[in-house]
Amino acid sequence: MLTAYDAMTASVFDEAGIPVILVGDTMGACHLGYDSTVPVTLEEVLVLSAAVVRGTSRALIVGDLPFGTYQAGPEQALRSATQLVKEAGVGAVKLEGGERSARQIAMMVSAGIPVMGHLGLTPQSVNAFGGNLVQGRGETAARRLLQDARAVQDAGAFAVVLEAVPETLATEITAALDVPTVGIGAGPDCDAQVLVWTDAMGLTPGRLPRFVKTYTALRDTLGDAARAFADEVVSGAFPAAEHAYR
Ligand code: KIV
Repeated sequence: MLTAYDAMTASVFDEAGIPVILVGDTMGACHLGYDSTVPVTLEEVLVLSAAVVRGTSRALIVGDLPFGTYQAGPEQALRSATQLVKEAGVGAVKLEGGERSARQIAMMVSAGIPVMGHLGLTPQSVNAFGGNLVQGRGETAARRLLQDARAVQDAGAFAVVLEAVPETLATEITAALDVPTVGIGAGPDCDAQVLVWTDAMGLTPGRLPRFVKTYTALRDTLGDAARAFADEVVSGAFPAAEHAYR
């Protein structure tokens, strides 16, 4: 699974055979210029999810429920998810939280909406984490995470993202669940892996978490291309004869 926030990028991943595209609330930092996922609104996810759906024909598109659109209870979650399915055309939704989100998951699943869970580091709770990246360290926290994973599965989720979880715990949770786990910073034994596309393709500036692998250097490539364009306009090399209408 890769994230995408626009039709063109999503079409590239779709054509490359990526089976699941997440219109994640990481759009906050990666696309909308916020400094976290917290300010992202349902309207923003709706617009960008609809674009991703229009740009793809094969992948399952998962729309993220942003902060404040499901925490109030199952009815609020169902209302938000219904909008994402009806108006944006996503095939599934994702939300954060274990036992605390189980009633919401059950309600959406009973209404026919496929739901993906998200445990471990759940960025919408950034203000409650106090700066710890890796989650589930220590016996009590590990038991709690396993319990949350079971609660999400029992509520009817079809898959669970595990973010920033020690490898051995992710392996244990993956073995304990019948539904697939999708790891991000959770080691190689998860059933699938997800990365934020701007991280994976080298577009995100600055230092990235240890769990990210960059597959290309898009920021350098785009910067070089932009500088070449500007230089050629200044020098007169662009536009050349072949770029002009006669
Ligand atoms: O919003 C997002 O992109 C995510 C991934 C990091 C899994 O939740």
